[in-house]
Amino acid sequence: MTPSFTIRAPDCFHTHLRNGALLGAVLPYYVRQFARVLAMPNLKPREVRTAEDAERYAEAIRQARVEQGLSEPFTALLTLFLTDATTPLDIEEAHRAGVVAAKYYPLGVTTNSDAGVRDIFALGPVLRQMEESGMVLCVHGEVPGINAALAEEAFLPTLQRLAFEFPRLRIVFEHISTAAAVACVASLPKTVAASITVHHACITRAQVFNVFGDICDAHLYCKPIAKEEADRRAVRQMMTSGDPRFFFGSDSAPHPRAMKEGAGCAAGVFSAPVAIETLVEIFEEDQVLERLEDFTSRFGAQFYGLERNTGCIECTCTDWVVPEECGGVVPFRHGGTIHWQMRRLP
Ligand code: NCD
Ligand code: ZN
Repeated sequence: MTPSFTIRAPDCFHTHLRNGALLGAVLPYYVRQFARVLAMPNLKPREVRTAEDAERYAEAIRQARVEQGLSEPFTALLTLFLTDATTPLDIEEAHRAGVVAAKYYPLGVTTNSDAGVRDIFALGPVLRQMEESGMVLCVHGEVPGINAALAEEAFLPTLQRLAFEFPRLRIVFEHISTAAAVACVASLPKTVAASITVHHACITRAQVFNVFGDICDAHLYCKPIAKEEADRRAVRQMMTSGDPRFFFGSDSAPHPRAMKEGAGCAAGVFSAPVAIETLVEIFEEDQVLERLEDFTSRFGAQFYGLERNTGCIECTCTDWVVPEECGGVVPFRHGGTIHWQMRRLP
C-alpha cells in the first residue's frame, strides 16, 4: 500500500495572490494547497491602503474563486499597506472591516513598495492604534538601498527597537533568511514571531547568483535573497524545531514569465504549486514529520489568535513532475520530481 497520512488543512501566513488576470490564473494553486492565507497588500496600481480597498480586494478574490470554479473552503485574510500617510483611523476602520494585519515595507525595498514607509517610528500613533486594536504588524525586515546580502541583518536593530517601544504589538518578522535573524527573533519577547518560506529552507545564494553576481536562475530571485549555507541551515533547523514562534508563510510571489526573464528581473518565487509537498519532504528528511502539522496548521493561527482550520489534507507518497508553467508563471522546482503529493479532503 502507498504510504499516506492526513493533517489539518494548512495556513499560509504570508502570500501574494495578486489582482486582475494574474489573480485568476494563480488562485487555483493556492486553493489546492491552503485552507487559509494571509494575502499581502502590495497590489498595482493601488495598494490595499484603506478598509475600502480591502473590501474591494476581498470581493475580487471572491469573484475569482467563482470564475475559476473553486468550491473548496478558502479564506483570504487581508492586510493593510502602511504608508507615511496612514492614520490611526485607517487602522481602526480596517480592523473593523476584518483586516488582521498591517504590512510595513521600508520604502522601495521590494516589488511594489514605492509607497512604503520612510521612518516607521514616525508612525507611532498608528502602531499604538494597532496595539489597541490587536492588529499584527508584518515586517519586511530589510534595509533598502544597501548590499542585498547584508540588508536583513542590518535591519535587526530596528526590529529590536520596535519590540521594546511597542511591547503589546504583535510583530511578525517575515520570510526570515539569515542565522542572525533567527537568533534575534528567538531572543526577543513572545510578542515577536517569524514566518519561514519553503525556498529559504531549500536554496542558497549560489543557486541564484553566479560568481560574477549576475542572476543565474531568475525564478529563484526574490527578496530577501537566499543567503549562505549556514543561514539556510539555521532557518531550516528553526522550521522543523517545533518552536511555536516560527510558522509557515510561503511568500509565494508569482510574476508572469516575461517579468522574470526579461531585462530587470522581478523579485519573487512562485512556490504555491509545490509548497506543502516540499515541506513534507523537508520534515521527512529531518525525521520530524510529526511536527509538520504544527508548523503549517497550528502555530500561525495561535500567534494571530485565530481558530484552527477544520478540514484536512491527505499526503501520499507518489512521484510527480512539477510543470514548467502554472498559470503562465514558472513555479519553484519546475521540471523537478517531488516524492509526495497532497490533496485536500472534502
Ligand atoms: C514579493 C512580491 O513579488 O510581491 N517579492 C519577493 O521577492 N518576495 C514582495 C515581497 O514580499 O518582498
Ligand atoms: Zn512577500
